[in-house]
Amino acid sequence: MATYLVTGAGSGIGAATVARLTRSGADVLGVDLTGADITADLSTPEGRAGAVAAASAAAGGRLAGVVCCAGVGPLATTASGSAMVSVNYFGTVDLLTGLRPALAAGDHAAAVVVSSSSTTTQPAIPADVVAACLAGDEPAAVRCGAAAGPVASYPATKLALAHWVRRSAGTPEWIGAGIRLNAVAPGMIDTPMTNGPDLDPELARALDFYPVPLGRRGQPDEIASVIEFLLGPGAALLCGSVIFADGGTDAHLRGTDW
Ligand code: NAI
Repeated sequence: MATYLVTGAGSGIGAATVARLTRSGADVLGVDLTGADITADLSTPEGRAGAVAAASAAAGGRLAGVVCCAGVGPLATTASGSAMVSVNYFGTVDLLTGLRPALAAGDHAAAVVVSSSSTTTQPAIPADVVAACLAGDEPAAVRCGAAAGPVASYPATKLALAHWVRRSAGTPEWIGAGIRLNAVAPGMIDTPMTNGPDLDPELARALDFYPVPLGRRGQPDEIASVIEFLLGPGAALLCGSVIFADGGTDAHLRGTDW
């Protein structure tokens, strides 16, 4: 049976992805801070290394796919720019890099990164955070993220992820090893990240003014269905794609500006 690894498995989009893949008959290993098959704090190098070791062992060194959903949002009262950098960017890229041998051992393996439509809809994204992430310099990126604050750092980490996918997907290490690497960029999705109890009330209220032509927030399973597609044979030609699944926000705000 094919084994998949999903981070952020305990909530929101990650939990919906686990449910979908399990319904389809896959064996799914979840990673999260608590309550998952593998307990790991992806904000630290040790936590990421522990997750890689545990996942590789549990999957017998062979994974059909990895989905990186673990992330922290900018609206929580506890949010910090440094946590955005460490969890959202390095917690994704370091984990995927560590799991590349297990993916290369799988048949037609695929990895999906969760970016965000904030990458094209939010103004004034701090370029220094993006550059330090892409340079792989976590201490510098953490410093820049802390200075920029969580609201600005969030889209910066998600833009860095999208750029990392675009840069890496076509290389010998990824597609050359048979691994398709793609990203989904969700719009506003109804999860604890946007409707949880610990959000700054003013920032949370601002979401009511976020333009969504479809007229509603997305549901976690609507992103999980895109992720399942990206993992599967129907997406065989997709390599380095960033799929916006946002009810029309990116098209509405960015138009033909690309
Ligand atoms: P969520 O808050 O429901 O789930 C996030 C999960 O990540 C939680 O289970 C949490 O425990 C886990 N996590 C957080 N820090 C971690 C750490 N240090 N180590 C391991 N796990 C950790 O949020 P949601 O909405 O399901 O988010 C999933 C992904 O989708 C995130 O990367 C988020 O940035 C992204 N996203 C969400 C959007 C939304 O509107 N909800 C929009 C665009 C992107």
